Amino acid sequence: MATAVPVSRQKLKIGLIPADGIGKEVIPAARAAIEALGSDIPSQSFEVFTRSGEALPEDTVSTSPALRECDCALFGAVSSPVRKVTGYSSPIVALRKQLDLYANVRPVISVAANPEDKPNVDLIVVRENTECLYVKQETMTVGEHGREARATRLITERASHRIGKMAFEIALGRPRKLVTIIHKSNVLSVTDGLFRDAVRGIEEQIVDSAVYRLFREPQIYDVMVAPNLYGDIISDAAAALVGSLGLVPSVNAGDNFVMGEPVHGSAPDIAGRGIANPLASIRSAALMLRHLGYAAPADRLDKAVDEVIREGQVLTPDLGGKSKTSEVLDAVLKRL
Ligand code: NAI
Ligand code: MG
Repeated sequence: MATAVPVSRQKLKIGLIPADGIGKEVIPAARAAIEALGSDIPSQSFEVFTRSGEALPEDTVSTSPALRECDCALFGAVSSPVRKVTGYSSPIVALRKQLDLYANVRPVISVAANPEDKPNVDLIVVRENTECLYVKQETMTVGEHGREARATRLITERASHRIGKMAFEIALGRPRKLVTIIHKSNVLSVTDGLFRDAVRGIEEQIVDSAVYRLFREPQIYDVMVAPNLYGDIISDAAAALVGSLGLVPSVNAGDNFVMGEPVHGSAPDIAGRGIANPLASIRSAALMLRHLGYAAPADRLDKAVDEVIREGQVLTPDLGGKSKTSEVLDAVLKRL
């Protein structure tokens, strides 16, 4: 991936936000993997953000000057409240907003461990993270035929342009250098028309046929750039092509900050048992480092993870193995 955030500092300060559930198990594993890179990352330091009794200390984290002082961060997972809490908004959403992390970048790569995986998939979904239908402007009125619900879909030139720029920068660092814009401008000619015009990719595809082709021949894609809703759906669908949630990494990225985040949630069903797969988090750490321009250390991490998966000897139960989180981490560390 190209450097979207320039490496301007010699010191790398990494914020760690394990939050709750298996976040507390997998984020320390990712930290250990980064530490094992040694002098590949000059003068690294960590700051851990936790506060007992609260899932994610929203006020302290998202407005924290300490987090802003970090160069990047790794976020675990946070459980949603079981009952409806008035005024609750997910802290990860608040974090993305406050740090202006306008892109969600999710690579999807097959690593021949799982027989159900599609082979030779190597694509990256670049999803716009701040607008589209997710601006949550919904109304309910009562009309002639009963209740009528409406949602506003916001697409701006600025947000579309900057997500397009990031997609191109990422593509330039890859062999195929192909960007496909995903849209539906044949129907939504104003909103998706603006998105398409602002991004202007090398290739474009209507979202429904893109999903069809994604399932039939995912190998044709390199970098897919999409507005928020399509990007959300495509990134989950693409991840399903290559195995366990425990393997899929992401970063939330802006111009000044990048936050690695495994795609999975807090997994309350297995939390506290020491069997969570740490590989998605280690890969998220690699992706974060790559985004900051540390390509070689990121390659080392990815290579170690790929080897562990390919060898298939030390795997957590989600991949059909019997190993613990700590054993998988050790297997990765041994290869670094
Ligand atoms: P989930 O991703 O936590 O779990 C889904 C299934 O995958 C579970 O069976 C779990 O055991 C398994 N799984 C997930 N990650 C794994 C790993 N690293 N190793 C092994 N197995 C793994 O999704 P779910 O159950 O829908 O949500 C649980 C909680 O997490 C909810 O409160 C949800 O709101 C929250 N969540 C938070 C996210 C975030 O913080 N970004 C994202 C998704 C869900
Ligand atoms: Mg999703």
